[in-house]
Amino acid sequence: MRLPAEPFRIKVVEPLRRVSREERERLIREAGLNIFAVPADSISVDLLTDSGTSAMSDRQWAGLMMGDESYAGSRNFFHFRDTVREIFGYPHVIPTHQGRMAENLLFSTVLKKGDVVPNNSHFDTTRANVEHQGAEARDLVIAEALDPVRHHPFKGNLDPVRLDRTLGELGRERVPLVMITITNNSGGGQPVSIANVREVRAVCDRHRVPLFFDACRFAENSWFIREREPGYANRSIREIARELFSYGDGCTMSAKKDGLVNIGGFLAMKNAEWAERITNLLILVEGFPTYGGLAGRDLEAMAIGLEEVLHEDYLAFRIGQVAHLGEMLEQAGVPIVKPVGGHAVYLDARAFLPHVPQSQYPGQALVVALYREFGIRAVEVGSLMFGHRDSQTGEMAYPQLELVRLAVPRRVYTTEHMRFVAESVIELYQQRDRLKGLRITYEAPVLRHFTARLEELSGAEAAAIR
Ligand code: F0G
Repeated sequence: MRLPAEPFRIKVVEPLRRVSREERERLIREAGLNIFAVPADSISVDLLTDSGTSAMSDRQWAGLMMGDESYAGSRNFFHFRDTVREIFGYPHVIPTHQGRMAENLLFSTVLKKGDVVPNNSHFDTTRANVEHQGAEARDLVIAEALDPVRHHPFKGNLDPVRLDRTLGELGRERVPLVMITITNNSGGGQPVSIANVREVRAVCDRHRVPLFFDACRFAENSWFIREREPGYANRSIREIARELFSYGDGCTMSAKKDGLVNIGGFLAMKNAEWAERITNLLILVEGFPTYGGLAGRDLEAMAIGLEEVLHEDYLAFRIGQVAHLGEMLEQAGVPIVKPVGGHAVYLDARAFLPHVPQSQYPGQALVVALYREFGIRAVEVGSLMFGHRDSQTGEMAYPQLELVRLAVPRRVYTTEHMRFVAESVIELYQQRDRLKGLRITYEAPVLRHFTARLEELSGAEAAAIR
């Protein structure tokens, strides 16, 4: 694969502090082997998330200076609203400060206790917001998605047969809406095809249930459709996005991803009655409908970012950069989730560290070593994040996939940074026998991965815990 050169040049630089191995060793130990507790200025390449970490363009920064901070009727709101209407095609546009607030407002308004929300895979905040209403978040992604090495061009697709069965059993009384996450973050940033969206739409129509998108990475998903789906090779990304959204009734959006901003989000929809109820709640908890928890300048940056993310040169480089990182790792035999998704490369920690059982957190052991040896920050998506005690048997239950996510911020790192990451991971892979399992010394009752503290096991302890 030939990666195009960066389709931008650098006007402002942010120096990275050089941190010695001794200092990193001390910092990660003080952090209780939890990468969330390491100060960000002690990290060389930060691949914790692609959310809110984009570099804005000169036009976006200029847009900040054009911020109209009027309490009501800011001109930036109208620019933002018209941009969203044009790209997404939904008439009612409600700004929020980030994605999870859009989710919270939507679910607070339309869900009741005992309801079920089907999705290909819920992102963790989406799941938490559904469950917060006493409803069930049900994942119906296709079976291929659960196999890390199985190739499928649209591994994010929702299984229409299981959806039909779910809607047949529960009816529209218990399922107020169906969601599709594009791209499917929890499944590795995998895209959803237009053909699948059409099928899901047909099932929803049969049961008269509305369809919403979790649209965070819609431009990346549209790019994959053009690359992989028959009949779309000559369509523009904007046209593909318009078609995709035309099959839905609305969306939630975290603009911290494909809005190319550091903060921002929105809800957009067709249903006027839902929009009115959500707006009333917005005023109570978030802000007036023409700013929704943001400054006018943030709305301007978001309006410009939503346009820029559709540029084809940008997307070719963006998707290419992530694919290139995956390719360098794969060529060296490092086990990764395939095919590589839009925003991240996922390491398969179980295959990487076969000598460390899931009860000893192999994914987290990898995250700790990547920081200690090379200053790189990745995030564990495995037994530390999802492991829990089964309420019935009392036994520990572990997720099927034990992954480490290397999420790539947009327009931030160069090809040389990616080469440094690849060479570091490969070096670690060559020394993988030296890595040891971990044990938790402190954990919070919910979302434990954010604040847990851990320690490394000695050889004898590791053998005893197995
Ligand atoms: N939906 C998806 C698919 C997401 O990936 C995220 C955030 C959200 C909703 C929530 O949006 O953060 O603006 O409130 N994902 C980030 C990540 C945090 O690292 O993957 P938010």
